[in-house]
Amino acid sequence: MIFTELNRIQCKAYLIGCLQNKTAIIIDPIKEKVDRYLAILTNHDLTLEYVADTHTHADHRSACSMMKSLTGCKIIRHRLSPQPNVDVHVDEGDTIGIGELEIKVLHTPGHTPDSVSFYVNNLLLTGDVLLIGGTGRIDFTGGDAGMQFDSITGKLFTLPDETLVYPGHDYRGNTESSIGNEKHNNPRISNRTREEYIDIMTNLDLALPDKIQEVLLTNITEQEDNEFTLPSMTALHQVRRISAKSLMNLIENHSPPPIVDVRNRDEYNGELGHISGSVHIPLHQLAERSNELDDYRLQQMILVCRAGVRSTTAAAILTGIGFPQACDLEGGMVEWNKNNYPVERIIK
Ligand SMILES: [Fe+2]
Repeated sequence: MIFTELNRIQCKAYLIGCLQNKTAIIIDPIKEKVDRYLAILTNHDLTLEYVADTHTHADHRSACSMMKSLTGCKIIRHRLSPQPNVDVHVDEGDTIGIGELEIKVLHTPGHTPDSVSFYVNNLLLTGDVLLIGGTGRIDFTGGDAGMQFDSITGKLFTLPDETLVYPGHDYRGNTESSIGNEKHNNPRISNRTREEYIDIMTNLDLALPDKIQEVLLTNITEQEDNEFTLPSMTALHQVRRISAKSLMNLIENHSPPPIVDVRNRDEYNGELGHISGSVHIPLHQLAERSNELDDYRLQQMILVCRAGVRSTTAAAILTGIGFPQACDLEGGMVEWNKNNYPVERIIK
């Protein structure tokens, strides 16, 4: 097995490779280092089989799609990831085979709902859930302090003490730790009750990362930020929402509102299907094709995507161009399917 951190900066990416089969995965690749990744793969004569994100990143642009288009590798993300262009959705207990290696997926929500940790041999890649001497912030992108406490204490801290920990970020020059060390010495979480931890995490009062809006939205939509005008954070926070249950009630009462699905075509016809009668307009075409929705301009209109993130952007865009009732379907098609509400799919 080959294992190495690739970025040599505070923001970490890891290569895990099988030396017998000459195959590899890169976890959390960033756009700025793509050339370096390609050089390292060539130097070790490794074929890149997969790239994966431990979660939806808000502080840097993911290079997963770029690496896929350059190498033909497949993209792995958690089932709750709001991003398009995922080849393999994984969940708790799944394994990823890299030659002779088996990487176990642990769902460790908290920093974001789609956060995962990867566990192989005695190595644990924790993303931004468990950091060295810290834990990832929970104050944006759907974070939840209680969930994070449960993920760390109930899942990661049950692994053997000698398990080596490799986080997604480190700001103090550390490169590795161990579960035993974090369990006993992490000032954020060791010897804390769940209530104490929630209290600490909800009162951190940290500044938002630079360019969070541009980075997050471009990661989530996979559109370059010059392809359409991004709504402001304020506009995103003001978006109206409707639950899957409320929308289903409207449909059952024969008063369905217009529904616009903003995912890519392969997602619309894919595994999660789409809501019957929904109009399909991908997010990046929404502003230019908004005239197709003119008949519904003053009606409540429901925007739908995979997990409710792109649809929030879509609702903010439409609100900004004169659709005051544009509304986001909370949790998107993941939540809709979880409730077993009906979907249509085009069988390929
Ligand atoms: Fe993060």
